Amino acid sequence: IAIVTGGTRGIGAAISKALKQEGYRVIANYAGNDEAAHKFKADTGIDVRKWDVSDYAACESNLKAIENEIGPIDTLVNNAGITRDAMFHKMTPEHWYQVINTNLNSLFNMTRPLWDGMRARNFGRIICISSINGQKGQMGQANYSAAKAGDIGFVKALAQEGAAKGITVNAICPGYIGTEMVLAVPKDVLEKRILPHIPVGRLGEPEEIARCVVFLASDQSGFITGATLTANGGQ
Ligand code: CAA
Repeated sequence: IAIVTGGTRGIGAAISKALKQEGYRVIANYAGNDEAAHKFKADTGIDVRKWDVSDYAACESNLKAIENEIGPIDTLVNNAGITRDAMFHKMTPEHWYQVINTNLNSLFNMTRPLWDGMRARNFGRIICISSINGQKGQMGQANYSAAKAGDIGFVKALAQEGAAKGITVNAICPGYIGTEMVLAVPKDVLEKRILPHIPVGRLGEPEEIARCVVFLASDQSGFITGATLTANGGQ
């Protein structure tokens, strides 16, 4: 059983579909866009569940309900993320806290309620979708870059705790992938400031990140933990 946060759109939708293809029973969490979630469910047959991953109590109660109804969750993909881009001199406390809560605090909120069960079963796969911008920093994204760098620290620390219990904890750092999030970047910034820095000369495909998740989730990847798998077209 695998749960993918933000699993009905963008990179998350590709991850949900790829895991289903591999034989996982997938639950795709989402927070806001009911229309997209219902369409995703109708198209794929994947179970969708709505709650906000920045809310600890909502994560705990929904995860408990899923485990009681379906069974133990062995694979967690922390994918949900938002942007609130602004130059720092224009950034508000709302820009800062919304991004930290959704992109970083969600890792605690989703992982903590599943951790004891994974420890008891001596198996678990936790995969966190970080970003190239957590590795290199990005102007206009002090909030997002801080959260995404935080994801990497979380993974490296928790990997050490999980190692003796068969739980691997890894990060994937996508570069610029052709999703709604990236296509919302102003066109001239995308064309003049971002694309020229991607050596392969194109945006990535969500499926190219989903393949990384399938690899890290598999039973054969047990020696890989605390790692950061980078997929960014050479950037
Ligand atoms: N790289 C390089 N330069 C950038 C840039 C970027 N990503 N973003 C903005 N700039 C430059 C602009 O070209 C502009 O330069 P000039 O004055 O020389 O023209 C300068 O910074 C100021 O930019 P704006 O005029 O656009 O200022 P603004 O206040 O109107 O908007 C902004 C600022 C909201 C940050 C807007 O520029 C923006 O959205 N930029 C894109 C930021 C970005 O890269 N976000 C990544 C989103 S995708 C993602 O996050 C997924 C992932 O994990 C990779």
